[in-house]
Amino acid sequence: MTDKDTPLPILVVHGPNLNMLGQREPDIYGHDTLDTITARMTTVARDCGLALSSFQSNHEGELVDCIQSHMGKARGVIINPAALTHTSIALRDALCALEVPIVEIHLSNIYKREPFRHRSLIADIAVGQISGFGSHGYILAVLAMGERLHPSTPA
Ligand code: DQA
Repeated sequence: MTDKDTPLPILVVHGPNLNMLGQREPDIYGHDTLDTITARMTTVARDCGLALSSFQSNHEGELVDCIQSHMGKARGVIINPAALTHTSIALRDALCALEVPIVEIHLSNIYKREPFRHRSLIADIAVGQISGFGSHGYILAVLAMGERLHPSTPA
């Protein structure tokens, strides 16, 4: 029995317009839908000793409510705040209050895009940021969170 046999609860948060993945600007965001991405993440998470619960909303307040409701429950948060990355102090404050590791993820490389996307209000409270690897970035985020919460012991 390893510590991975008891999966740790992780919250996955998707911000505005990410419900449209697959249809929305596929040249930038790819063809995978959020359901497909969630299914893949869930499978990888199991191997990493994590139990995911996912939430998407187009509304800032609903995202804040969801994050608050996981206080003392979620052991980490993987978040693509979408456009709110660049604007939302409320989302940042809600994430700070949880006091758990945060992994920020973006499908596109936000630093190669318009200048207003270069600033993230989440980046400096996150363990790290994954940006530009398309939907694969979500898998990288799960692996990063798994390593953070179940560090591999050196051989
Ligand atoms: C995004 C990048 C944001 O700038 C944008 O507003 C999004 C998606 C990404 O995943 O690349 O909605 O977070």
